[in-house]
Amino acid sequence: MSNQSLCRVCGGTVREFFDFGRQPLSDAFLPPGADLGEEFFYRLATGLCESCTMVQLMEEVPRERMFHQEYPYHSSGSAHMRGHFEELAKRLLTTELAGDDPFVVEVGCNDGVMIKALAEAGVRHLGVEPSGGVADLAAAKGIRVRKSFFEESTAKEIRAADGPADVVYAANTLCHIPYIGSVLSGVAALLAPTGVFVFEDPYLSDIVEQTSFDQIYDEHFFFFTVRSVQAMAAGHGLELVDVERLPVHGGEVRYTLAHAGARRPSPAVAELLAEEDARRLGELDTLRRFGENVLRIRDDLTALLRRLRAEGKRVVAYGATAKSATVTNLCGIGPDLVEFVCDTTPAKQGRLTPGTHIPVVPPEEFSRSYPDYALLFAWNHAAEIMAKEQAFTDSGGQWILYVPSVRTV
Ligand code: SAH
Ligand code: TMP
Ligand code: ZN
Repeated sequence: MSNQSLCRVCGGTVREFFDFGRQPLSDAFLPPGADLGEEFFYRLATGLCESCTMVQLMEEVPRERMFHQEYPYHSSGSAHMRGHFEELAKRLLTTELAGDDPFVVEVGCNDGVMIKALAEAGVRHLGVEPSGGVADLAAAKGIRVRKSFFEESTAKEIRAADGPADVVYAANTLCHIPYIGSVLSGVAALLAPTGVFVFEDPYLSDIVEQTSFDQIYDEHFFFFTVRSVQAMAAGHGLELVDVERLPVHGGEVRYTLAHAGARRPSPAVAELLAEEDARRLGELDTLRRFGENVLRIRDDLTALLRRLRAEGKRVVAYGATAKSATVTNLCGIGPDLVEFVCDTTPAKQGRLTPGTHIPVVPPEEFSRSYPDYALLFAWNHAAEIMAKEQAFTDSGGQWILYVPSVRTV
C-alpha cells in the first residue's frame, strides 16, 4: 500500500488524499449461485497530481474486468438522459456536423443513446464500444459499431479506413480510461484540422462542493477540472477551447478540444478556471476536507439506518447504481439494513449487489408493498424517479438522501 503514485497524465507525483478501502467492482452484480468468496476486490483511493493537478485513482483495475460482454449499464434506461443526448445530437447537426459529408466517432457509445439520432439523420458515423452486450444493442438500432477499446491504434485504423473525423465525442467515458495519453494521441491523429473532441464527465468541483463521493469508483479513474484538462490537452498538441457546465449526473462539464491554435478559446474557459482557483480545487487541503465530509456522511447514514432498523421500520433502496457500491461498501450497508434494491435494468435483477450482497429486484417489488423508507442510490435521477413514484410518498413513504448531507424527504 502506497500513498504516492505516478500521474497517468503527466508522470508527476500523485499524493493520496482519501482511502475508501477494499472495494468490489461496482458493476459486478453477482448471479444466483455465485461463489461469494471469489469476488474481486481492489483498493479504492484518490490522489492529486502535484504537477498537473489531475485527480485520479491510486490503483487501476484491468479494463477487461470492467468492460465486457456482460457490462450491465444501459445508457438508455433514463428518459431524462435520452433527452439530454438528443438535444446535443440536434445541436451538433446544425453546427459541427453541418458541412459536406461529415464524419463523427463516438467513444463509449454504449447502447447508442446519443449516436442513434446522428445515424438516423444519415450522418457517417462510427461508435466504438468494447462492452459486447451493449454494443449489440446499439448495432440492433442500425448504428455502425466497432467492438473495441478506443486507444491510439484504434484511432489510427479508423482514420485510415474512414478518413478524418469532424467530431469525436465521448460521454461519461473519457474519465473511465487510465491510459488516457493513448486516447488523446489517437484523437489528435483522427481529428480533421478543424475538428473537435467533445467530452462530458463528472466535474470535480461539483463532487467536492456536494460531497458526492459516490462518483468515485473503479470505473471513474479521473476527475477532471478546466486546469487539469488544459494541461492534459497541451501534452498532445490539443487545446481546450470551450467548457459548458451540465446539470446531469450530479454536475458535469462538457469540454471541447481542438488542434492547438485552430480555434479561439471561448471566455467561458478562463471564467471557469478563475472559479476553480478561487475554490482552491487544485490543493490537497481542499481535498482532505472533502475526505472529512465523506466520513461525516458515512457516520450519519449508518446511524440513521441503524436507528430505523431498531425502530422496526422497513427500508429498501432505489437504483442499483455503480455509484452505490462505494456507499454500501464504505458504510457497511448490507441486507441487514436494506431489504432490497429495486432497479429497472434486467441484467441487474435477480442478482446481488457487489461486496454487500443486497438482492436486486424489479421496481414492481417496490410498488407491491411500499416500505417506510427508500434510500435513493440513483439520486442523480431524483426528479425523474420521485415524479414516477409519487404514489410512494402519497402512501406516507420517505426518501433517504445522503448528498450533500444525510436527510429524509
Ligand atoms: N456514453 C454513455 C455510456 C457511459 S458508460 C453514457 O454517457 O451513458 C461508459 C462506457 O464506456 C461503457 O459502455 C464502456 O464499455 C465504455 N468504454 C470503456 N472503456 C472504453 C474505451 N477505451 N473505448 C471506448 N469505450 C470504452
Ligand atoms: P446511473 O446513476 O449510473 O445513471 O444509474 C442509474 C441506475 O438506476 C440504473 O441501474 C438504472 C436505475 N434506474 C431505475 O431503476 N429507475 C429509473 O427510473 C432510473 C432513471 C434509473
Ligand atoms: Zn499530472
